[in-house]
Amino acid sequence: MNLHTKLPPIPFIDVASQRRRLGPAIDAAVARVLDHCQYILGPEVKAFETELAAFCGAKHVVTCASGTDALVLVLRAMEIGPGDAVLCPSFTFCATAEVAALVGATPVFVDVDAATFNIDAKGVAGAVATAKDAGLKPKAIIPVDLFGLPADHHAIAVAAKAEGLLVLDDAAQGFGATYNHRRLGTFGYATATSFFPAKPLGCYGDGGAVMTDDDGVADTLRSLRVHGHGSDKYDNVRIGLASRLDTIQAAILLEKLKIFPDEIDARNEVARRYSERLGDVVTVPVTPAGSTSVWAQYTIRVADGRRDALAAILRAEGIPTAIYYPIPLHRQQAYKHFPVREKGETVSERLASEVISLPMHAYLDVATQDRIIDATRRALKK
Ligand SMILES: Cc1ncc(COP(=O)(O)O)c(C=O)c1O
Repeated sequence: MNLHTKLPPIPFIDVASQRRRLGPAIDAAVARVLDHCQYILGPEVKAFETELAAFCGAKHVVTCASGTDALVLVLRAMEIGPGDAVLCPSFTFCATAEVAALVGATPVFVDVDAATFNIDAKGVAGAVATAKDAGLKPKAIIPVDLFGLPADHHAIAVAAKAEGLLVLDDAAQGFGATYNHRRLGTFGYATATSFFPAKPLGCYGDGGAVMTDDDGVADTLRSLRVHGHGSDKYDNVRIGLASRLDTIQAAILLEKLKIFPDEIDARNEVARRYSERLGDVVTVPVTPAGSTSVWAQYTIRVADGRRDALAAILRAEGIPTAIYYPIPLHRQQAYKHFPVREKGETVSERLASEVISLPMHAYLDVATQDRIIDATRRALKK
């Protein structure tokens, strides 16, 4: 590269391009809410829940204030609390384990699979034994569809059934992806997702949703998100919380959902090009047969301590990278006292020292992507 021609910095996630594409439609949708003034649980919330259910194939969608709340609401619906163990991967965003602790239960960490980065179902029986040794009652497992790729939901369902665990899928990063030709949202007891702006389907603030096929669970979730109401809002039948998706966010999401399938295709094309042109110099992500990803992140593995050098070289060329996640949860200050099965170096620890994510979004044009790929290839050959 000619170092005298300084190229503009590349965004890691380009929400502005999508905003430009949707501009007038979003403005009109927000204006409608401002006019009808039903800011809490207004008509757009119900409309969005109906559209989202049709999109993913779940019978019910119950929206709420964030992906973290979505997980909490389900754990509350499962009546999980002190003395209970909730299995979750140790290589994930902290919210997955945080919610177990928030409801008073104990997260028990399970290692992940080195190829998919997702929870390793082979670790479930051992983690259940660890939980029991610690005097806990194992009640649930929260697989995560990390970086957009579905966890192995069949293997998890089999392991969970054998151990009597309820499955809560954390699809905050993977919503829109498919496993065995079914969209996430239809596996286990319930599925939680997040509409945080950087997520594949994000809003313009915080938001989340739960998907379930169970009528009773859906009713309980609708009660829990409004202070545990019964027949009306001043009839309180359980301890709940205030966790609604704002009507304005639902109006924005209704517009974004219309282009989501197209954006998923675009993300897959970006991922395909990365893998095609980087697969000979670095470990690129895998997509097991029968699954599709929504590529919340495009994450490569760089071994032998060369990751920081790669990040520094790319940064100098205006190319941002991110490390999700530099410390596995069972090593984090807030979580290291919780049980973990494995002794010695875990896959999660190895991944934490090797992973690095490249810019990924639906509006990454070929020229910009070539710039990232060429710089990455040059850096890795040094
Ligand atoms: C795997 C995972 N779970 C849960 C969450 C929590 O979502 P939110 O930020 O909407 O609370 C996130 C995202 O931030 C996530 O990546």
